[in-house]
Amino acid sequence: MIKYSLLFILNFFFLTVLSQSQAPIVLQTKNTTLVLTVGNKHRLYQSYLGARLNATEYEKLSGGREVYLTAGMENQFEPAIRLVHADGNPSLELEYVSHTTQQKDNLSITRIILKDSVYPVQVVLQYSVYFNEDVITSSATIQHNEKKPVRLTQYASSMLHFNADTYWLTQFHGDWAREVNMVEEKLTNGIKSIESKLGTRTNFYQTPTFFLSLNNPATETSGELIAGTLGWTGNFQFTFETDQRNQLRVRPGINPYASDYTLQPGEVFTTPEFIFTYSNQGKGQASRNLHRWARNNAVLDGNGPRLTLLNNWEATYFNFDETKLINLFDEAKQLGVDLFLLDDGWFGNVFPRNDDKAGLGDWQENKSKLPNGIGRLVQEAEKKGIKFGIWLEPEMVNPKSELYQKHPDWILRLPNRAENLARSQLVLDLTNPKVQDFVFAIVDDMLTKNPGIAFIKWDCNRSMTNAYSAYLKEKQSHLFIEYTRCLYKVLDRIRAKHPHLPIMLCSGGGGRTDYGALKYFTEFWPSDNTDGLERIFIQWGYSYFFPANTIAAHITSMGKGQTLKFRTDVAMSGKLGYDIRVNEFTPQELQFSQDAVKTYKRINDVIWFGDLYRIISPYEENRSVLMYVNENKSKAVLFNYHLNVRRKDIFSRVQLQGLDPKKKYRFKEINLFPGIKANNPDNDKVFTGEYLMTVGLNLTTGRVTSLTSNVFEITEE
Ligand code: GLA
Repeated sequence: MIKYSLLFILNFFFLTVLSQSQAPIVLQTKNTTLVLTVGNKHRLYQSYLGARLNATEYEKLSGGREVYLTAGMENQFEPAIRLVHADGNPSLELEYVSHTTQQKDNLSITRIILKDSVYPVQVVLQYSVYFNEDVITSSATIQHNEKKPVRLTQYASSMLHFNADTYWLTQFHGDWAREVNMVEEKLTNGIKSIESKLGTRTNFYQTPTFFLSLNNPATETSGELIAGTLGWTGNFQFTFETDQRNQLRVRPGINPYASDYTLQPGEVFTTPEFIFTYSNQGKGQASRNLHRWARNNAVLDGNGPRLTLLNNWEATYFNFDETKLINLFDEAKQLGVDLFLLDDGWFGNVFPRNDDKAGLGDWQENKSKLPNGIGRLVQEAEKKGIKFGIWLEPEMVNPKSELYQKHPDWILRLPNRAENLARSQLVLDLTNPKVQDFVFAIVDDMLTKNPGIAFIKWDCNRSMTNAYSAYLKEKQSHLFIEYTRCLYKVLDRIRAKHPHLPIMLCSGGGGRTDYGALKYFTEFWPSDNTDGLERIFIQWGYSYFFPANTIAAHITSMGKGQTLKFRTDVAMSGKLGYDIRVNEFTPQELQFSQDAVKTYKRINDVIWFGDLYRIISPYEENRSVLMYVNENKSKAVLFNYHLNVRRKDIFSRVQLQGLDPKKKYRFKEINLFPGIKANNPDNDKVFTGEYLMTVGLNLTTGRVTSLTSNVFEITEE
């Protein structure tokens, strides 16, 4: 206690001196300003967050609300942090000590040190400010020097405060095969929480993304809002607490559910990053900010090319052998895609993987299906001039497997209780370093033995239930957090050795879609639902937060009453691939698909790296229109989809967006089915950008038929 008092006196002196002369901490992007000030009791306050201010104005700011609210003192609302000291005292008071800012090109990183004046506890708030992209990420690191461990029961990444008349929250929730349904609601007094407790496959019911509009619901092109997401592949939680004075606190972070964390003296607890952008020009601008930020900073090789592919999952399921696969290479080649992706079912001998009930964990080629191993497949693919990729689900085990028999202690399951299987499988205990080595080796051995492998699909087909780690013993409340950290440890090792191999992040549909993971992955699998109509909504939902080059979109045989043309047009607005029986195509369908792959390769840079404009929402009309425009506004691609249209539907002209009003553009329909001619009277005509954006064009001409579509290319003359 004597030590603490001394520290208190020293700190107090230091803080007084510093805070009197402390100018506001100003975090600026091109269009946003966040101002933090040191005020009453040396605490740190959020004094302003909104449209960019100029230098003379922010000097006048003071007060506001405490940036990183603590628990146990006078705060009556949900805290950002709650810490119980080694002596049982459940209070924390954080005072500003100092801060530093490092600037490197477009990125400036500000670290603000806060300390408790009585207990040796320090919290560092870190803000990374991406100037051009208008994105700020924030996280906290928590540390202490008490004699014994302290207990953390809340540990948000950040906290943001708002004062508006009304708050409108948009969330994206769903389930298997119906992911990211968008719902907007007005927040009322109390707490709304968007969260996951699923451990693995964590985004299955909720995507970790939200819009918060202030005063009025924002549209695509107008309104003030924050778009937020968390870079974390585990349990997450965003709480929105509106208090009795209609003030709102947004608290993003790891979900502390069942996750009290015992922090040892000297140990550093780092939260994941909360990623947000502010826009006063609606949701479209917010998405474009995030897309640009993601491609430049957050997605592995975000500005690099992607491979088109043919996957065999929906074409064969588990039923294939070497000859059948080699024949499929020919089909991939015929289509003109870059890669053949071998999906589930190629492994397991004592317990062959002939359905989803056995074999997971035994990553040896099944001898009857693949007598010459993966090596032969890679060779054959090479001979045929096509790349080869493979499916893995390295974190999982079926009870019917040799792995299960050999290492029962490597599996997450409760003692004294029956196992709870999902898709006949269990989750491996990645917190155990031996399991980490095992998972690393699955991937590394595969790539070392077969250096020709050009792509991996990393799957994760169940969430955690009835979970208990034999390795963590009495620290079960660390399981959810440790699992995610250890997943990153393994991925770090894989990426250190194989830095650029494209890997698809898959989790039985959209179970893993977050920027914590995308740093290791080049794309993600948004949904097992590949019906074209459903995909219009699913891809639309993801497009708010993720750029098109990360959203894998495959053409499959799903989709009742939908033509191949419609399904192809839908897939083309994302990262195109195929998962279909090419040998069942009619000659025209084959011709169409070959042409579509060529067309996609010609225009894909606009789709992958361009700015997205969502023009007509499928949530609002029985059609959906979106376009991508490249950076210098010389090229755009426009997608027009008709949903299940009715006689009442009258589709008005569409004003395009994002073009240069002064430039002249040729408007041309592409991706037509063999024998079909463009019937739009404006086809192949030249218009100014101004005309296209103010007068607009009729995209729907003639009789409107359900589930039809057009792709237009708009090119500067
Ligand atoms: C998950 C994936 C599918 C496929 C199967 C294989 O469901 O989402 O694309 O890979 O696993 O079992």
